[in-house]
Amino acid sequence: MSAGETPNEHDIEEPARGLSRRGLLGLLGAGAAGIAAGGAGGFGIAAATGASATSHAGSGTQYPFNGEHQAGIVTPAQDRIHFATFDVREGTTREDLAELLQDWSYASSRLVQGLDVSASGAVGGSPLAPPDDTGEALGLPPSALTITFGFGPTLFVDGDGVDRFGLASKQPAKLTQLPRFSGDALDSALSGGDLCIQACADDPQVAVHAIRNLTRIGFGRVILRWSQLGFGRTSSTSTSQATPRNLFGFKDGTANVKAEETSATTEHVWVAPGDGADWLAGGSYLVARRIRMMIESWDRVRLEEQEQIIGRDKRAGAPLSGGEEFAEPDFAAESSTTFGQPAIDANSHVALAHPTKNAGARLLRRGYNFVDGNDELGRLNAGLFFLSYQRDPEQFIRVQQSLSTDLLNEYIKHTGSGIWAIPPGAREGGYVGETLFG
Ligand code: HEM
Repeated sequence: MSAGETPNEHDIEEPARGLSRRGLLGLLGAGAAGIAAGGAGGFGIAAATGASATSHAGSGTQYPFNGEHQAGIVTPAQDRIHFATFDVREGTTREDLAELLQDWSYASSRLVQGLDVSASGAVGGSPLAPPDDTGEALGLPPSALTITFGFGPTLFVDGDGVDRFGLASKQPAKLTQLPRFSGDALDSALSGGDLCIQACADDPQVAVHAIRNLTRIGFGRVILRWSQLGFGRTSSTSTSQATPRNLFGFKDGTANVKAEETSATTEHVWVAPGDGADWLAGGSYLVARRIRMMIESWDRVRLEEQEQIIGRDKRAGAPLSGGEEFAEPDFAAESSTTFGQPAIDANSHVALAHPTKNAGARLLRRGYNFVDGNDELGRLNAGLFFLSYQRDPEQFIRVQQSLSTDLLNEYIKHTGSGIWAIPPGAREGGYVGETLFG
């Protein structure tokens, strides 16, 4: 396919399989079993190619679904996110789950190419049945869509200690619920989940379409637990990207782990063979924190104090010890205005989050801004949907514990939380999670 063309059915390879019968039933809802079984012949054209990112003029970038690692981690952070978590429904078996992951992988391999979830899709099926695809992305380009899947601790052993799917022996020792952190104000309705799906794209409609259709395919097997929309990425994950700003108006992502730092991604992001759970090698751990930001209080804070709280200057994002944005902070440097005081406050966010204060731990941050309407006091329900990928959850735990004295804490509140093991990417002709279920 040459640059400038929109992908179509002729550009892609025959798949190993189409959607399962359960997946087809999901698209129709539980009541339409007869029609669904009759419609199965319409499926089964596409599978993702294993090629590297392709750029289509005017249509955004396309990332392959298959590969060593799942896309959506070191992939340059897109502009939008729709994140969803699911609980497995009672009655779903281990085999059903494996089949669901195959269905989700199949559909995702099409979605990332800008295609419908099936060959008959939104408008090519029987006029007597609901369409396989909901249709709101018809005609939209791939928009750099990535779809990333994760498995929560409760998938292995649920809250009552039950091993529902015979997976307990495969639970990575590090995949446990996060400890309680000081200041946590977590809402269980915005926390946890047996499974998670992160859909990121440069077009919000494309990301929402992906989650909506994957949820539909999962009907009867999983149920949506909570979901989060986000805009305006708050990190750069590639040196090719400019550093964006969060809702406090500061550049966010300056000192992030970047895709081009391959020795850092090996050391800090990807689970290696021998780390504990062999099926997870090439994967990662994802921590999500929904952080409410008290932006109305923040907006009344003097600029000088805002900068002191973060430890960086607001315009350029440079450390208060001097230099330009990417200069290393010097925590020993003295303030030029306040005699005997450090230029970077020891309780500023950057001082406490910096690797030198955390035994060298670094995180790959991939968060997004959110505004979910407003509260009854007329304040915007706004914040940062913080996402970080790391080789070991201990990296996040260590930094978050260090942030217990963060000056920023007066203006933020953690209201949602979750942790998931992120399996490696699907091999060509395989599915995400095959190393665990296969
Ligand atoms: C609403 C909450 C938060 C805001 C507004 C915020 C904002 C910022 C800003 C402006 C920077 C400096 C620029 C940069 O290097 O990216 C930064 C750095 C950083 N933040 Fe946050 N952050 C928040 C929450 C968190 C959380 C929960 C963690 C992890 C537990 C975290 C970990 C880090 C790390 C590791 C750095 C880089 C420090 C360095 O190496 O210099 N942040 N954050």
